[in-house]
Amino acid sequence: MDSETFRHLAQSRRATRHFKPDPLPDGQLEQLLDTARWAPSGYNLQPTHFVAVTDPALKATLRAACMDQKQITEAPATVVFVGDRRVVQNNLDIMLKQEREAGSINDQYERMMRSYVSLAFGQGPLGLGWFWKATLAPLLGLVRTMPSIPAVHKRYWLAKQTMLPAMTFMLAAQSAGLATCPMEGFDERRVRRALGIPASLVVCLITPVGYGADESLTKTRLPLANHLHTNGW
Ligand SMILES: Cc1cc2nc3c(=O)[nH]c(=O)nc-3n(C[C@H](O)[C@H](O)[C@H](O)COP(=O)(O)O)c2cc1C
Repeated sequence: MDSETFRHLAQSRRATRHFKPDPLPDGQLEQLLDTARWAPSGYNLQPTHFVAVTDPALKATLRAACMDQKQITEAPATVVFVGDRRVVQNNLDIMLKQEREAGSINDQYERMMRSYVSLAFGQGPLGLGWFWKATLAPLLGLVRTMPSIPAVHKRYWLAKQTMLPAMTFMLAAQSAGLATCPMEGFDERRVRRALGIPASLVVCLITPVGYGADESLTKTRLPLANHLHTNGW
């Protein structure tokens, strides 16, 4: 794909609030999510999970938890993007083993990763590590450079990670002639209850996907000059 084609793809995606009832072709949703999982993530920990909802009764319950936004029940499928608070326990060993076998890291890199991840995510004795990190990090920051620490800002870290597969999914859907609508208008507790999502996962974004029925959706953007700050603010 050349850059003009990609620019057109990014420009023509619209948040779509009306969908045709047509179902997605078999396997299409899985294929789009298979693309989305190639988005990058911090330490390659891959904390994003996709909860795909196609069952009509479940979609109705989900719609109620999404402030009754009708695109949820109109679209043939809705994807709930969630981030795993327990990603280190769940993914680190598997990911490192896979990377070692693929030859993309060596022993030295693995040791470094393990120590960084433990520093960044470790909760320490009694699970109070985040407290010491929250109090010590700003003080240490006075004398040395300190990154933001995921153990302290877990929801923020997960929101950042999860948006990347979500955006990749929306662009992949657009390239397949499908429409989406990113949504943050939902009651997280009720969404979790409707879909049986454990409390260790943070619900970050929801998007229906299907064939758009909105005619001629147009949107504007502020000029690039409003956003671009070259070599500093
Ligand atoms: C994080 C996020 C949350 C959003 N939440 C909602 C929502 O709950 N309901 C909705 O109809 N649109 C929602 N939108 C869509 C925006 O209104 C839309 O993206 C914006 O107006 C720009 O339009 P465009 O996406 O068609 O270019 C959301 C968009 C983003 C990025």
